[in-house]
Amino acid sequence: MKYLVFFFIGFGLGVLQAQPIISKQQVLPGQLWNDSRGEPINAHGGGILFHQGVYYWYGTHKIQGLSEAKHADGGIHCYSSKDLLRWYDMGMVLNLVKGDDSHDLAYECNFDRPKIVINAKTGNFVAFFKLYLKGFGVETGFVGVALSKSPTGPFTYSHKFLGANSPNGSGDFAMHQEENGDLYHLAVRKPDKAFVVGKMNEDYLLPEGEYVVCSGILDKTEAPAIVKRNGIYHLLASGSTGWDPNPARYFTSTSLTGPWQYHGNPCSGINPVNGLGPEKNFGGQSTFILKVQGLDDTYIAMFDVNKPEHPYESRHIWLPIKIQNNQFSLQWQDAWSFDTFKLHK
Ligand code: DGJ
Repeated sequence: MKYLVFFFIGFGLGVLQAQPIISKQQVLPGQLWNDSRGEPINAHGGGILFHQGVYYWYGTHKIQGLSEAKHADGGIHCYSSKDLLRWYDMGMVLNLVKGDDSHDLAYECNFDRPKIVINAKTGNFVAFFKLYLKGFGVETGFVGVALSKSPTGPFTYSHKFLGANSPNGSGDFAMHQEENGDLYHLAVRKPDKAFVVGKMNEDYLLPEGEYVVCSGILDKTEAPAIVKRNGIYHLLASGSTGWDPNPARYFTSTSLTGPWQYHGNPCSGINPVNGLGPEKNFGGQSTFILKVQGLDDTYIAMFDVNKPEHPYESRHIWLPIKIQNNQFSLQWQDAWSFDTFKLHK
């Protein structure tokens, strides 16, 4: 009997030791970030939606083995998490279309920077993405729109529109939702690269009225990520150098149309993974500012480390935003946990 008890205790300990570490406690900016099954998180140029206690991370799925020149985009990949650390693969929620070159989402189009918002009036989850049609180059940029009744899709492609009141449409963009539900499309206009803002209509499907140039935002501002805090809009962005990194740009304003105040580059420190500092935005390009739920006044800046030759191997940089005198700054951290935010207070 005694031996049997020892056997079960020993067996139990063996099982305990064999358990995988359940939750990675730290964010490791610039390093490989695996999902809960150990697969690299494949969501690029994306953003996060918080809905009913769950975060949903949406981004472009990059097809393994293809370069950007060979059209690596596959559609929208979604992950979910409750703690922002451990991410569960929810699969593809929108796929590009194979075998129909006349489709707007024909495989080999350029599909970039998906952002998803909820329309409380229609109950729709609305996905917006930057869309260059297959075979037409990048002169004219559309905003594609897809809809779902569930955060985990499937999203159904609805239509595309040319934003910015320009026949050439727009490039990189952010969607900003006000507390009252009004939605704004902020984007770099084509072809002159002025930065503009336009209001979307009530159902979020099309812009309504005119776009306005955001006064004070430098021309050729790309990769916009925006958040409103205490009545002040904070816009983090980049310059315009294709897939290559350049210095980050940071602006604030009390109105979306401006005047925006330019604060230069908010970054400091060096990313040891690639040796790059603020002059190259740690090798990254902004994509989203995430407000953390349940922690007061807590924001995370999300960047992509683009790898145009091997986009599947692109990495993510998440950094806690430091706020002092109502101004944001970003200091490189090799590793950080959510306790970091308490130190900022
Ligand atoms: C800059 C954008 O910010 C990226 O997302 C990507 O679209 C590249 N341009 C393509 O050159």
